[in-house]
Amino acid sequence: MAPLRSLINQVLDERGNYGNVQILYGVKSPAEFMFKEELRQWAQRSDVELHLTVDAPDLGWNACVGYVSTLFPEVKVDPRNTVAAIIGPPVMYKSVIAQCKVKGIADGNLWVSFERRMRCGVGKCGHCQMNHIYTCQRGPAFVYTEIKGLEEAFA
Ligand code: FES
Repeated sequence: MAPLRSLINQVLDERGNYGNVQILYGVKSPAEFMFKEELRQWAQRSDVELHLTVDAPDLGWNACVGYVSTLFPEVKVDPRNTVAAIIGPPVMYKSVIAQCKVKGIADGNLWVSFERRMRCGVGKCGHCQMNHIYTCQRGPAFVYTEIKGLEEAFA
């Protein structure tokens, strides 16, 4: 959520330039949600849809349980003008990208970030490498069409 937060705040600062804003956010347990005050504010806005899920609910949790991909049936999108920004553990990307495709979102409108794989950040350690791509050099955000076919390197 940390990299996505600045994108969301930018969109909300320029709210009139965008249509529906839908935030799908999943964590392991309710205690792991970051930016709880902002989540509360986003939840109260009539011009934002906030969908939350956890893998392991506690006694106070009364919303969705499951991976973030389980939230997709709740959302309606117009695939002609929807852009998705996907950030999280790379192992999650395959299922989320698959759900975006079910919604009809074009590959060129899917943005994926690989900042979690960074170490040196200057092209020396190879930790960020996905086949021939050094994400620290060319990313960390990619349009899905740039990295399509490297799904096995996501995990
Ligand atoms: S983070 Fe070390 S090579 Fe990219």
